[in-house]
Amino acid sequence: MADRRARPPRAPRPARADRGLGWAGRRFEVEVGAVAHGGHCVARHEGRVVFVRHALPGERVVVQVTEDRHPGYCRADAVEVVEGSEHRVERPCPHSGPGRCGGCDWQHVSFAEQHRLKAAVVREQLGRSAGSAADPVIAGLVVEELPGGSLRWRSRARFAVDRAGTPGLRRHRSHDVVVLDDCPITAEPAAAAVLQRRWPGAGAVDVAVDSTGAVTTTRLDRRGHPTSSRVLRPGGGLPEEPGARAARTAGGRDWEVEGTGFWQVHPAAADALVSAVAAFAAVAPGETVLDLYAGAGLFGGALAPAAGPEGRVVCVEADGEACAAAEANLAGLPQAEVWQGEVDAEGLAGLLDDLGGAPSVVVLDPPRAGAGGAVSRVLAGSGARAVVYVACDPAALARDVGAFAAEGWRLAGLRAFDAFPMTAHVECVALLVPGA
Ligand SMILES: C[S@@+](CC[C@H](N)C(=O)[O-])C[C@H]1O[C@@H](n2cnc3c(N)ncnc32)[C@H](O)[C@@H]1O
Repeated sequence: MADRRARPPRAPRPARADRGLGWAGRRFEVEVGAVAHGGHCVARHEGRVVFVRHALPGERVVVQVTEDRHPGYCRADAVEVVEGSEHRVERPCPHSGPGRCGGCDWQHVSFAEQHRLKAAVVREQLGRSAGSAADPVIAGLVVEELPGGSLRWRSRARFAVDRAGTPGLRRHRSHDVVVLDDCPITAEPAAAAVLQRRWPGAGAVDVAVDSTGAVTTTRLDRRGHPTSSRVLRPGGGLPEEPGARAARTAGGRDWEVEGTGFWQVHPAAADALVSAVAAFAAVAPGETVLDLYAGAGLFGGALAPAAGPEGRVVCVEADGEACAAAEANLAGLPQAEVWQGEVDAEGLAGLLDDLGGAPSVVVLDPPRAGAGGAVSRVLAGSGARAVVYVACDPAALARDVGAFAAEGWRLAGLRAFDAFPMTAHVECVALLVPGA
């Protein structure tokens, strides 16, 4: 018979917001330690970790705790600089700073130092979970600057809209909308198209400016669903409903992209990534290339000429509109195919069967969450001679490189680009090869 003795009652689990130590709002002075993933630095106070925004390593600052929901750590803003770093600069954007717009992390940091901070984060992430920080591939990493400076690089953006219809951006870790009249990291015509008018009834507005200067605005409802779109072409004229795709250039050729479809936000990023991917992939004539999470076919299209007429390039993408754009972009390349499908462990195993032989090279450029361990393990067993992994989150990259390492692969090359100036984000390209 089952033991029906009553279990001792479980202690009630505190609500998420109550698990801290009640430090929210407290002010104290700290010495700021190393930079960490996520746009903050690490400090300690009374035995607790404090994640400090708006500070720099080595500074002494007065912080104000903004969030305390965890027993082990709290979050704080540096509200007063006691001893500043030599790398601290005047913020170019009047809307950034403690308690203000949450769009940027490093407005108070010189451009050169932003690159060093990002490199430190990538080295720390990869050193921790993908090997040793002393590995020369990791230790030698620098973050490369893209042409165009630190401002006006954003060619696509999503702006929030408050209940009164006024556009802006969200406060850091908040739903509050900070009303803006400009966003200096966004391309001027895109920022103006959204921020210099009101959007009654909208929840958000997406904007994109293409390489011809055409600006597409897409109104979203409060659940994030697109409700209408307009295209403004340079030189004026009446706004048009979109239909034509946006024009982009990269790798020495033109590309068509769906107005709201994925394309690198920084105008120089696609070019830089194509050349980094091509150098790592070193595709030879006759080889088979798999381009996973292919979007509009950027990497597959750029690598197809190297595979030549005897080679084969298969671009795999889940989104139907992106597949249609990829079909159009790859139309002149008979060795390139577009397969619509989900990349997950099961789908990928089927796809490798359908390929009818091992791919020579796999390029993958997954969304921010990364490909994940299961997909990485299938790729490690695919028979490819190399995997080139493009990643916008070094933590997800490090986790997946760790999964490859557990299958006997090693990190043979690593580059990183500052495709998101003023923010803590960084774009990485990693080369993985089988064998120690
Ligand atoms: C970071 S974008 C990369 C696009 C392309 N490589 C480029 O650079 O323009 C990621 C792409 O993966 C697609 N995607 C997301 N999840 C997917 C999945 N599970 N399977 C296949 N494609 C997916 C998205 O639609 C998007 O086009």
